[in-house]
Amino acid sequence: SNPSLLILPGDGIGPEVMAEVRKIIDWYGAKGGLTFDVTEDLVGGCAYDKHGVPLADATMAKAQEVDAVLLGAVGGPKYDNLDFSVKPERGLLRLRKEMDLFANLRPAQCFDALADFSSLKKDIVAGLDIMIVRELTSGIYFGEPRGIFEEGNERVGINTQRYTESEIDRVARAAFELAMKRGKKLCSMEKANVMESGILWREVVTKVGEDYPEVALSHMYADAGAMQLVRAPKQFDVIVTDNLFGDLLSDAAAMLTGSLGMLPSASLGAPMANGRPKALYEPVHGSAPDIAGQGKANPIACILSFAMALRYSFDQGAEADRVEAAVEKVLADGLRTADLLGEEGVQPVSTSQMGDAVVAALDAS
Ligand code: NAI
Ligand code: MG
Repeated sequence: SNPSLLILPGDGIGPEVMAEVRKIIDWYGAKGGLTFDVTEDLVGGCAYDKHGVPLADATMAKAQEVDAVLLGAVGGPKYDNLDFSVKPERGLLRLRKEMDLFANLRPAQCFDALADFSSLKKDIVAGLDIMIVRELTSGIYFGEPRGIFEEGNERVGINTQRYTESEIDRVARAAFELAMKRGKKLCSMEKANVMESGILWREVVTKVGEDYPEVALSHMYADAGAMQLVRAPKQFDVIVTDNLFGDLLSDAAAMLTGSLGMLPSASLGAPMANGRPKALYEPVHGSAPDIAGQGKANPIACILSFAMALRYSFDQGAEADRVEAAVEKVLADGLRTADLLGEEGVQPVSTSQMGDAVVAALDAS
């Protein structure tokens, strides 16, 4: 049977950028020899408008069944005053929680044509292609005890970094699997010099590494890693780290490559019956209410999220490369959505012009 995909465009620019992904999916069906069973449904504010909840139970059930979920973005000013329990982002949180998506993949990839856009010097980032794997469901953001407590005559704020062996094991495995599909190089970052959880992290990752003899494993203290990430990011291929360090390192790495409109992501869970992980793909950006409805949104983050789905959920690595090459081509040709403008005299293209150009580049490849 065909690979199945649940598409949740969401709110704001979500549906606008997703429409461009649909063009690519249609192209694959018509000419690319790859047909997906696509279901589209609501998430976020639009789901609240229709069902009174940001994610209906039927949508949740569907998400558990499909090979991959592709989400646009949720939220917007219209929903800012809703009760916390039905806020748009709760729809996204429910997906992540019930699918148990413990590995967050954030690539930092620098297209040559945009190397000037980086906060760093061009030669440091040109051709950069790294992947940060952040543990997403445990660690200091969830550990107990937590809270603000009275202690003597003052208060104390407490969070607890807590990782079980199995939590480290599964995210490490996800990272090694990725490394096998990429450059076979994995760097694990923690602070084993000052943290017990870091000592255990290093030990478990090393142990998992015995199952992946082809992957070159290294370890780095996360602070040194942050330094190396901006000094010489191309030394890395896959980085695996905990929730807190991953939050910081992935945001820093994102700025190596420029606009929010370019950044895809994936969140992976446990392997399903078919051996592939449960997976949710989404651009890093939000619903961008300031530009929604104006045809200004950059669809590339969402298109690259679909490329990640091709690679990690559908075993179509060559097609993922092809989509990425098509994006590279249109950028090299000088096409820019408004968020990518910098050079003088360049006229921006619209969301749909950018999507059409990517499809044309695919067609020509
Ligand atoms: P945002 O990512 O939506 O926008 C930040 C800035 O980047 C805006 O100026 C926006 O125009 C620009 N931008 C974002 N994506 C772009 C794209 N594809 N092309 C061109 N420009 C783009 O973040 P913001 O403004 O903090 O949040 C807006 C809404 O989105 C809020 O309701 C927030 O809760 C929600 N949000 C949703 C997320 C999700 O669905 N995963 C993630 C982050 C925010
Ligand atoms: Mg963050």
